[in-house]
Amino acid sequence: MPNLTIDGRSVEVPAGTTLLEAAQRLGIYIPRYCYHPKLSVSGSCRMCLVEVEKAPKLVTACSTEAAEGMRVLTASEKVRQARRDVLEYLLINHPLDCPICDQAGECGLQDYYMDYSLRKSRFEAEDKILRQKRRAAGPYLMLDNERCILCTRCVRFCGEVTKTAELEVMERGDRSFIDLKEGRALDNGYSLNIADLCPVGAFTSRDFRFKARAWFLKRTPTICLGCATGCEIEAHHYEGTIYRLVPHPNAETNTWLCDHGRMTYKAVRAGDRLGKALIRKGLIDLEPALRETATRLEEAKGAAAVLGSPWLSVEDNAALARLAKDSVKTANYCFDFSAEQGIKDGILVNKDPAPNTAGTRTVKALYGGLSLEEFTGLLAGGKIKILITEAKAYGLVKAAAEAAGIRLIIFARNRGEAPAAAYAVLPYASYFETEGTFVNYQGLRRMTAAAVEPPQGIKPLWAVVNKLASYSGAELHLDSAPRALKDMDF
Ligand code: SF4
Ligand code: SF4
Ligand code: FES
Repeated sequence: MPNLTIDGRSVEVPAGTTLLEAAQRLGIYIPRYCYHPKLSVSGSCRMCLVEVEKAPKLVTACSTEAAEGMRVLTASEKVRQARRDVLEYLLINHPLDCPICDQAGECGLQDYYMDYSLRKSRFEAEDKILRQKRRAAGPYLMLDNERCILCTRCVRFCGEVTKTAELEVMERGDRSFIDLKEGRALDNGYSLNIADLCPVGAFTSRDFRFKARAWFLKRTPTICLGCATGCEIEAHHYEGTIYRLVPHPNAETNTWLCDHGRMTYKAVRAGDRLGKALIRKGLIDLEPALRETATRLEEAKGAAAVLGSPWLSVEDNAALARLAKDSVKTANYCFDFSAEQGIKDGILVNKDPAPNTAGTRTVKALYGGLSLEEFTGLLAGGKIKILITEAKAYGLVKAAAEAAGIRLIIFARNRGEAPAAAYAVLPYASYFETEGTFVNYQGLRRMTAAAVEPPQGIKPLWAVVNKLASYSGAELHLDSAPRALKDMDF
């Protein structure tokens, strides 16, 4: 455990700790481009130079290990001058793209120039070396070599995290540039992490490109519902529209995000988003649709069935359970879901595509119900006339329901989710628009947060269920999400 002083303050760190990490423990920030806590050290950008007493020259803090008795200076005049020089060097050939660059506002070059340089360039714009400008580097990424500072974070990410090694540094010296290996594209399923990792605007997201300026975006921490891993994310939005999802790195679940998860926000404003209900494929306001549905349920009497969903929050499943027990008054309901869980690709993506299989267990524990096998058998048996469920969960019993010609009442956010044969499709707020509790494959219980407003008139699913029950003559008193969880051991 070496003891050292950094800017006059003592710190004891485990053997092997670098000066950059030791300084971080003291809350001293050392600028960096190539360093990333989850990638190997390359020590190539020189932005982290610090002064060590008795060392003949400045050393890179990211690659120098702390040693007993070291005296380190991170803000001496010598260090400040080195930072100015490194920035001048990095900016010599950097294009004057800031007004049209998507990285502007969150760019490492802009930030450090303001923090450590503010020096006028000694080079004329016409002397700059020109390199290849924008080109697609995969389904989600654009590459602009002229903006690259050759930190190699992108190369190391593809070599060490996805282990797909699509990128390499070509040529030598001032001719070096990042390129895709011949015949390759950045389509490894995690490619958008490279847009986050790239400290400048060399790799940018094709999806986010030219959509919004970084400084306008508001950030709402929430969770991804793309699978049972439940990665922590931030939804970046402006004036009611989500523009991108980025990781919220945390020790429990994720540093990165998969590309599939990043795109889950698209359904919120997709062209087929339901702003009204459908009855026999015809658009209709929610209230008359609920009255119609209540009438059909009344007609079916004991021949109605309710199926929960591992794609819905605990609150929404609990509301469906209350609907079955207290409104439809049937024992024909099921909240029994299981799926193999665990990371399937060694990085993040889960074997279970549903985000709340674990959460539905708490609903089953309180409300009981049939096993999925019994429920499927019941549907196939021909005694059930009407089924209420969520669109993706319907996929689990589709064959039995179709064969038995059962009338379908489907909760769906987008028209494309609902089966064409549905009698009624009832819209509800997405989990980017409302709170909901989800339990991931590790048993971690987290809540989504409302980043944007739902379309006018669209409510959380528990509220739609509450209204449906009232049209059927039962009051569930679900006036808030916590009320739906009231009796749950949670
Ligand atoms: S493209 Fe970005 S991440 Fe890759 S080396 Fe260049 S600056 Fe670094
Ligand atoms: S691994 Fe799953 S939870 Fe994480 S970002 Fe991808 S889809 Fe979302
Ligand atoms: S951060 Fe240390 S050399 Fe780049």
